[in-house]
Amino acid sequence: MYKVSLLTRDGATIAFDADPSDTLLDAAERANIYLPSSCREGGCGACRVARASGDVELMSYSSVALSEDERMAGDILLCRAQPRSDLALRAPFDEAAVGFAPVPERRATLVAIEPACSGTLRLQLQYEDDPTFGRAAQFTAGQFIELTLPDGSPKRSYSLANAPNWDGTLELFIRLQPHGAFSDYLRDRAAIGDTLFVRGPQGQFTLDESSAAPRWFVVGGTGLAPALSMLRQMAEFADQRSCRLFFGVNKVDELFALDVIEELKAALPQLVVTLCVWKPEQEWRDFVGTPVEALALALSTASETPDIYVCGPPALIAAAEEAGRAAGVPHDRIFSEKFTAA
Ligand code: FES
Repeated sequence: MYKVSLLTRDGATIAFDADPSDTLLDAAERANIYLPSSCREGGCGACRVARASGDVELMSYSSVALSEDERMAGDILLCRAQPRSDLALRAPFDEAAVGFAPVPERRATLVAIEPACSGTLRLQLQYEDDPTFGRAAQFTAGQFIELTLPDGSPKRSYSLANAPNWDGTLELFIRLQPHGAFSDYLRDRAAIGDTLFVRGPQGQFTLDESSAAPRWFVVGGTGLAPALSMLRQMAEFADQRSCRLFFGVNKVDELFALDVIEELKAALPQLVVTLCVWKPEQEWRDFVGTPVEALALALSTASETPDIYVCGPPALIAAAEEAGRAAGVPHDRIFSEKFTAA
């Protein structure tokens, strides 16, 4: 058995023992510590942490989940790492993202479904009353849930777009895929009143409340959802720190939630929004290009080093990390959530 100590972003120490034949994720769960994870097979990157000292053996994983640069910087995947010595790890998340009981599964009712833009739907779910959890939607802004249909179809992960609330409302923006059980359901059969199963909250993509740095959100497509959640949380708390949103899509008709963004600009007067369209097929007055190109331009004239929160496809995350690195933003001030293919 080896001793593992994990230091969270907000300074809490979580300790557990790990057998060399266990992954660190399994070892933690044996001790009733449920660390952020999703696929559990090295494919998504949700369980990535930094290794401060000690040795691990990494089983096979996808470079989407852990890039060569991240591995060289000392990062590991808890679901693919077996200990080879005592370990000191540093987590990119706060203690609040750690569970001390299995992630619960709850029933929710579909109360709204409507087009958000070309190819993307907005869903609103309502938690049913639960003897253990009541009705509240308790999560940390930026986290995701897994949805399952009543027929037991495979789970799909989606970030929440609203802020935590007591009335049990969950808001999601879902990009329809050409094929897939969940997209087919949403396109063909979903009806108000349907029951879905919600496993969550999960994930470590949350605001670092201990940092006073400006917050810059760099998102592509439905990667906007967790940024909306975090910005809505900031608006509720009347947070006055400097913040920017770089929201990118390929075509103008793929922009969505512009009404929510306008509400946020009213609630957070310091919020600067850059809408980035890669290939506008009509006149476009805001930024033409990717959100990472807009980020790089803004970093080149920034007077303060921001914390950067990135959500979108792996290529967008890698490009944003590269842009941040080139501008001198420390590796541990870039927080990311990758959207990987289901
Ligand atoms: S949970 Fe470890 S990579 Fe997905």
